[in-house]
Amino acid sequence: MCGIIGYVGKSEATPILMDGLKRLEYRGYDSAGIAVAGPEGVTIERVEGKLAGLERLLAEKPVHGTTGIGHTRWATHGRPTETNAHPHRSGDIIIVHNGIIENYIELKKFLVGEGFEFTSETDTEVICHLIAYHCRKGDTTFRALARVREELHGSYALVVMNAREQGVLYFAKRGSPLVAGGGEKENLVASDIPALLPYTRDMIFLEDGDYGLIRENGIELYGADGKRIERKPQRIPWNALMAERGGYKHFMQKEIFEQPTVMLDVLAGRIQKDRGAITLEELDFLFDGSKLVFDRVSIIACGTSYHAGLVGKYLIESLARVPASVDLASEFRYREPLIDDRTLIIPISQSGETADTLAAQVMAREHGAKVVAICNVVGSSISRAANASIYTHAGPEIGVASTKAFTAQLAALYLLALYLAEKKGMADRKTMAARIDELLTLPRLMKNVLNCADHIREIAEEISDATHVLFIGRGANYPVALEGALKLKEISYMHAEGFAAGELKHGPIALIDHGVPVVAVAPRDAMRQKVLSNIEEVRARGAAVISVMTEGDAELAERSKYTIEIPEASWCITPILTALPMQLLAYYVADHKGTDVDQPRNLAKSVTVE
Ligand code: AGP
Repeated sequence: MCGIIGYVGKSEATPILMDGLKRLEYRGYDSAGIAVAGPEGVTIERVEGKLAGLERLLAEKPVHGTTGIGHTRWATHGRPTETNAHPHRSGDIIIVHNGIIENYIELKKFLVGEGFEFTSETDTEVICHLIAYHCRKGDTTFRALARVREELHGSYALVVMNAREQGVLYFAKRGSPLVAGGGEKENLVASDIPALLPYTRDMIFLEDGDYGLIRENGIELYGADGKRIERKPQRIPWNALMAERGGYKHFMQKEIFEQPTVMLDVLAGRIQKDRGAITLEELDFLFDGSKLVFDRVSIIACGTSYHAGLVGKYLIESLARVPASVDLASEFRYREPLIDDRTLIIPISQSGETADTLAAQVMAREHGAKVVAICNVVGSSISRAANASIYTHAGPEIGVASTKAFTAQLAALYLLALYLAEKKGMADRKTMAARIDELLTLPRLMKNVLNCADHIREIAEEISDATHVLFIGRGANYPVALEGALKLKEISYMHAEGFAAGELKHGPIALIDHGVPVVAVAPRDAMRQKVLSNIEEVRARGAAVISVMTEGDAELAERSKYTIEIPEASWCITPILTALPMQLLAYYVADHKGTDVDQPRNLAKSVTVE
């Protein structure tokens, strides 16, 4: 996610902005910039890449002034380039933004019609032109911002500077975080706590709809209704490292718990509820009228992303009726796969840099395949080598064990399957509306599951001394069983293995002995009864069954030593819900065993070697 900071005070703004941006580096970024109001006006300096490049630029060309804004950009719309870096400017209006503006295309068309010239590929740029537009019509900066808040759809944390106004910054918040605070003769506003810690431990956490301004001697805050409000500052007891983790013990834990919020960003701008349609404009090239330009899908990926691909197969084949295969990227290249110009390759990758996946994708393109990447990093090698990309917008994933990227990939694959089904005329409006309505409940359903964290920690501590842990599932939850085993293996170093539940009797059941934990992923769906039989098989041989089940399933509960409940949901989204207990179980076992949860031994976050 982007990092933003604003400063107004007596001190030189540049070093304060740069220090603040450094303290926000953990949020992940690929370009940076600052704007400082000095005696000669506002100077903007931006770089592609890291803050070190911006520091070198500022060392050559120092920028003086006591009011300024800064930004580290995590690209969502537009590649990580200097032109797309923030701050963005329109006349006297300079802004930095964190979030996704869903209606930027129509706003851009309007503003171009009003004579504004765009220089970047970003959604953010519409905001500075829109504020400038209202100022051009006579509004003050503050009034213009008040209007623009209502005109923007999507999420934003905004800090705005007007070159004609000394010693004041404006801000607005909806959907993306913003905190404010300061000292005697200075005030700041920033994306997160770490940037403000050197100046104050008393911080105001802005809420959606809040907007206002900071000056060196005070903060003015207004609520969604435009009335002046006061928010009581909260005292922050954390040190900087704890603050980076948002108070969580590990980045992985933070990333597990931020998944409901991430899901809002994954779905943002892609669901047309009123039309009952999915918007994936980047994929329109896949259709010639209502006809697909490809006959089959070949998904390639590694590790957790491969497990997402396995779920994707069920979704694409069942909803869009398109044949779909899934390969481990490291195997795909060497099995002489049948690829032609009627093949759609879908590489799935959080990092966008996995060498095995990139190499397989390049080979497929050489054989004429079209490529649509599902990726979390804009401008990454895999996304650049694709015809188009569906970005998962999960924000930077710091923990080596992939969590929020996985559920984001599952949601992206579901959106893709629905998009293909709808464009092929295979899903009527009523069906689409029902599926979209359920998708929009996903963040809340995920929160319900995460509320069981303490119960899952108790189970984790019970099984943390086991020699083996087996995971079983069927249908779209079979890959979730594989993912549960991978999570446990990679961060707790315990042996774990996932199976299709129907495969147990073909060999693996020999592993069952008294007390062996078996995690059964068994939500209420078409496969539940079959999984129930498999649970009986392992129980009869002494297994300690942990059932991940739909809430209220008494029949399953009677047959389980432990139960973890998920809300009732359609099979299309239960993998997103059942993935959460897999992540939490692994996390709490590893935390109990004291392994290095965020940086497990022998592993790298991005495997850029084959
Ligand atoms: C997942 O927890 C692992 N860290 C690993 O399996 C990872 O999913 C795999 O290396 C693929 O990475 P990618 O998604 O960045 O391509």
